[in-house]
Amino acid sequence: MSVLFENSETKRNVLRAFAGESQARNRYTFAAGLAKKNGLHVIEAVFTFTADQERAHAKAYYELLKPCSGENIAIDGTYPVDLYETVLEHLRAAQHNEYQEWEHDYTGFAHTAKEEGFPEVSHLFSQIARIEQTHGDRFGQFADLLEQNKLFISETECQWMCLNCGYLVTATRPPELCPVCKHPQGFFVRVEMVPFQMKR
Ligand SMILES: [Fe+2]
Ligand SMILES: [Fe+2]
Repeated sequence: MSVLFENSETKRNVLRAFAGESQARNRYTFAAGLAKKNGLHVIEAVFTFTADQERAHAKAYYELLKPCSGENIAIDGTYPVDLYETVLEHLRAAQHNEYQEWEHDYTGFAHTAKEEGFPEVSHLFSQIARIEQTHGDRFGQFADLLEQNKLFISETECQWMCLNCGYLVTATRPPELCPVCKHPQGFFVRVEMVPFQMKR
């Protein structure tokens, strides 16, 4: 089956995806603010880092809509309302939503795009679906650590990094205050969870 993009369900799915990414970006920015208020700066960083990636997804989808520039397109969709009191609930909601995007939304959109004769759009949905899976994993990992009270405690000695200044320390728990930049413990994270860090 091959249809014109103009008349396709894929066009509407791309707009649904753009709306979903835009909302996810905002939700993560709000959750980052809550994490900051709670002194959980590492989780603030996780939400901000992921929010920026959602923005990149939104842009990739939006650009596919170039042929529709100037139009108003009606879509329906369901979008989560995640207004919770605790950072843990936000991490769990984010984990759930990311897995939902990966397993259901984008996988379905990729299938429809393929059926309608848009292999490149289908490929993009599949690629971003895979990213959302890693987002779900990341939120889940931090939710587990927080839930088990292990975010700043390790059973065995490990290396921690202060996300503010890069100070490294090997210990079962990072210091209450970073000895270099005096930022609080909330900035510390296990070094293997730091993006861009070289293995050594
Ligand atoms: Fe995304
Ligand atoms: Fe995501």
